[in-house]
Amino acid sequence: MNNELDKFINLEEGWIDRRIFSDEEIFRQELEQVFARSWLFVAHDSQIPNPGDFLTTYMGMDGVIVTRQKDGSVKVFLNSCPHRGNRVCFADAGNARRFACNYHGWSFDIAGSLQGMHEEYCYDPGDIDKSKWGLKHVAKVGNYKGLNFATFDPDAPSLEEWLGDFRWYLDLILDNEEGGTEFIGGCIKSEISANWKFGVENFIGDAYHAGYTHDSGARAMNDGNPFPPIDMESSYHASVNGHGYEFGTEGVGDLILLGRPKVIEYYDKIRPKIAERLGELRSKIFGSVASASIFPNVSFLPGISTFRQWHPKGPWNFELKTWVIVNKAMPDDIKEEITKGVMQTFGPGGAFEMDDGENWENCTTVNRGVVTRKEKLHYRCGIDRRIDHPQLPGVVYRGQYNDANQRLFYQRWADMMNAPALSDMPERYKSVFGGRETRDYPGINAL
Ligand code: FES
Ligand SMILES: [Fe+2]
Repeated sequence: MNNELDKFINLEEGWIDRRIFSDEEIFRQELEQVFARSWLFVAHDSQIPNPGDFLTTYMGMDGVIVTRQKDGSVKVFLNSCPHRGNRVCFADAGNARRFACNYHGWSFDIAGSLQGMHEEYCYDPGDIDKSKWGLKHVAKVGNYKGLNFATFDPDAPSLEEWLGDFRWYLDLILDNEEGGTEFIGGCIKSEISANWKFGVENFIGDAYHAGYTHDSGARAMNDGNPFPPIDMESSYHASVNGHGYEFGTEGVGDLILLGRPKVIEYYDKIRPKIAERLGELRSKIFGSVASASIFPNVSFLPGISTFRQWHPKGPWNFELKTWVIVNKAMPDDIKEEITKGVMQTFGPGGAFEMDDGENWENCTTVNRGVVTRKEKLHYRCGIDRRIDHPQLPGVVYRGQYNDANQRLFYQRWADMMNAPALSDMPERYKSVFGGRETRDYPGINAL
């Protein structure tokens, strides 16, 4: 596969080969090259506040348990017994003192260490060194402003380097008010018969679909008015190392779409404080029509407060997990208003959520056709609109209707698919990987 992906993606001409959304060999490589080497979101601090709190999730298609330790740290290990491989935890979340395997009763403490087995006398001295047969830990765990990430790759850069200047954009949702954020109201899981990348690319930059796909939803949430108009001069795409944020600077579009006037009032009140905290420009970006994704599989809408992760379940299916994210400092009634707004818009039956899944499922199914899959897909919108912006970090393009963030996401994806090791990533990621130049895409300048 290495170095063959040039034929699947051409960012200079602005097209992508449809097979990246359906080919089983490409999917198998994605799990190895992208998911097993990336920093992946695993839990928000607020989901596991106390010692013994745990949740189960996925890193790629590998199940993991995320636990809060007695010393406050977070550990992440495979949810798979080293005896025959069974799951050791079947719950989504809870509080535990140990995890006991259903099959032969091996049990593990909350740090994943093997504590004991059923009928332990059946093992002779020398049969097993318990200290070596605990649950397999990930290579590294990191936290950025309440979001816990983990990676299986011991050679991965630090989480700070991985996120890089994208933290400037992440702070819009994670740090716009003193006290940070929390997830409230549990998690909603949906299964969608589509390739996971369609969800990520939709949130990373596809403002273009919103006014059309979601016309009726926008009218329902906005007193019969259509989607708020986009000003192409004062809206942007910004990409950092494949993470992307697309946004206006009008300050209210997403808050209007949330459909809860009290929430708009609340943000009007704290906006001067947001300006003090994050600067004038970011106080105008906050609340605008915007969407974002963290490479490879997390997305969020900063003004609408949905936070989500797209877990691959094969080339043609993903599981979507969604949460409501709010500021801890908000009064309870505002948190409640936001929760209702998120359910009305991006809950499973929400005015916007329902429209997207059908499109992604159709894109996935149709792109599999034996003749259809040989045709290209167009990704050239706004290809010449790159600008230098004095304040906005990353690779910035003018105009929110653009394929720029999508192109740069797929560039990062292709670079990881091609790189034998992370240290082989191209020069444009040198601040992240300390790598060397191996290939380049003309027309997209080094970061
Ligand atoms: S598979 Fe877990 S104890 Fe045997
Ligand atoms: Fe959408």
